[in-house]
Amino acid sequence: MADTYQSAYDLALADPEGFWSAAAEQVHWTRKWDRVFDDSDAPFYRWFSGGELNTCYNALDLHIDQGRAEQAALIYDSPVTDSRRSYTFLQLRDEVARFAGALAVRGVSRGDRVIIYMPMVPETVIAMLACARLGAVHSVVFGGFAASELAVRIDDATPYAIVSASCGIEPGRVVEYKPLLDQAIGMAAHKPEVCIVLQRPQARAAMVPGRDLDWQEVMAAAEPHGCVAVAATDPLYILYTSGTTGQPKGVVRDNGGHVVALKWSMENIYGVDPGETFWAASDVGWVVGHSYIVYAPLFAGNTTVLYEGKPVGTPDPGAFWRVIAENNVSALFTAPTAFRAIKKEDPGGEHIKRYDMSGFKRLFLAGERTDSDTLHWAEQKLGVPVIDHWWQTETGWAIAANCVGIEQLPVKEGSPSKPVPGWDLKVIDETGNEAAPGNIGTLAVKLPLPPGTFPTLWNARQRHFDSYLAEFAGYYNTADAGVIDEDGYVFVMSRTDDIINVAGHRLSTGAMEEVLADHADVAECAVTGVADELKGQAPLGLLVLSAGCERDEAEVVAEVVQMVRERIGPVAAFKQAVVVGRLPKTRSGKILRGTVRKIADGEDWQMPATIDDPAILDEIAEALARIGYPRA
Ligand code: COA
Ligand code: AMP
Repeated sequence: MADTYQSAYDLALADPEGFWSAAAEQVHWTRKWDRVFDDSDAPFYRWFSGGELNTCYNALDLHIDQGRAEQAALIYDSPVTDSRRSYTFLQLRDEVARFAGALAVRGVSRGDRVIIYMPMVPETVIAMLACARLGAVHSVVFGGFAASELAVRIDDATPYAIVSASCGIEPGRVVEYKPLLDQAIGMAAHKPEVCIVLQRPQARAAMVPGRDLDWQEVMAAAEPHGCVAVAATDPLYILYTSGTTGQPKGVVRDNGGHVVALKWSMENIYGVDPGETFWAASDVGWVVGHSYIVYAPLFAGNTTVLYEGKPVGTPDPGAFWRVIAENNVSALFTAPTAFRAIKKEDPGGEHIKRYDMSGFKRLFLAGERTDSDTLHWAEQKLGVPVIDHWWQTETGWAIAANCVGIEQLPVKEGSPSKPVPGWDLKVIDETGNEAAPGNIGTLAVKLPLPPGTFPTLWNARQRHFDSYLAEFAGYYNTADAGVIDEDGYVFVMSRTDDIINVAGHRLSTGAMEEVLADHADVAECAVTGVADELKGQAPLGLLVLSAGCERDEAEVVAEVVQMVRERIGPVAAFKQAVVVGRLPKTRSGKILRGTVRKIADGEDWQMPATIDDPAILDEIAEALARIGYPRA
């Protein structure tokens, strides 16, 4: 492969089939592909059609065959339970094979969906890989979502089985998952055949006879199951992510392109060698967890760390440095918000000095733009390169990054560097044409997207087309606005839709508005994302009360806050709202959320030419001032 960034980039664009088939030679196939790139159903493209393989084989068995049986594959580090457990590739494969057997004997087979609603424990990874082993399609649901969000996913994915745990552990509280699961199954029209529940000692769950089975018991009786070869184009998983409405989008990932792209990324983007320890401090419920806690490090023969804890408070802001030192982590991947949390508690980086971090080589950040304070603090305190990179649930891996495994480029503050080989990234302006360097527009990728991205949305082909492909013919619309400068560096500025980014979590303001609008006393509402020192953004609600409602405003606000927590989940972090007389709108009735955000953030703003009634913005500014905005 090429040894400079530019030559690799040019090669991938000039000869994508040659480039990706070379990468695919590193993967174990049970049947070689007929076509590297299949455009027979354009604009929905497929990679490696005709090929067959098994994802779990590539993650585990292959390494055993190649001499890594005794190397640690997974290290579970859990300060919240004060425990640590390590699995070699052989041990992890045996556990996975047995759980696959336990699923198979209960009727789970190739193509069946399995929802996994679990905390950050090894059994979650085992369940994911067991599904992959059988060719079943997993859908992991993040534990911070409420029962109704889980119910929506159950009805969309129609799982044959659900794997869950009695509880998750957040600092200071045990979150009982099982009552949420029971509630969700109660709400959903679709019912799973079987639930397998991991009983954790912190809270034991009541089981539903005839439906629920105990993880330990099924494992004790299980026979190991082999790998089922599937088509490269078969779905490996569905991962739901926020859309602009309350109905989440089921992002589908296939098997073949996924192994090829993620394995390539470990060497070329992250620059880690097989055998090294890679740690993504995220959650398996998010795409970062899927790609870089579970799949990519295992495909590449790395040891991966599964961390059940927080950057601070478990027990102190030295937690990350302890994990790095104790496990000889060479690369850490997390979100900037985690570093802001650490910096806030330990601005001088004193805790870093307590640990031997000599094996630590690089820090990768993603999930939100890396702000310059965080970048400089991390660079200075850690003394290693800090690499921002940009990607999305849909893409599955980085669109833009500093590909240190190929050639480390100089870092430009505020930029995730350049498009990764395979990504033909453009900026499209308001006229639908390519913008000149330095000019802002929508970041869009010329089709086809490279392997490992999303071939479709589950049960929603038309929505896939409408959301991503319709606006700019021949391009994937990332819904991020940005700039590419004259040196080819990308700058990601903001979303072009109603998605906000809270602590690196992607949330839909539309979904929150749907909940607020359901309150009996709320006539109209709007939610926008305002700047937050720790989380990057935080949701803020504007409420117009129904005519004649004379209730105490604070009471209504407290009720809507509780409603969002119950209906979307604590992860929404919806904690603030203010009552206003009316909402600022354009003459055509569109709510001016962007202007509200600017007022709340104390940014310069201009009176929108299309505003219905300019006086209303003074009223909004007064209402925001009552709750302390702008926060200087
Ligand atoms: N199960 C149940 N509840 C959960 C949960 C889970 N798996 N994960 C989070 N929550 C809850 C939290 O307890 C919190 O509840 P609270 O309102 O009662 O305090 C709420 O959801 C919001 O969680 P979070 O966004 O994590 O905020 P926080 O204040 O607890 O922590 C950070 C802030 C910055 C420390 C935290 O977001 C973090 O560690 N981020 C790391 C980056 C990351 O994981 N990014 C993901 C993409 S890379
Ligand atoms: P998710 O699908 O949850 O991974 O969220 C994807 C969104 O997060 C992107 O569309 C961006 O808006 C934002 N994002 C992720 N990484 C970055 C980054 N490095 N810089 C700026 N924004 C980012």
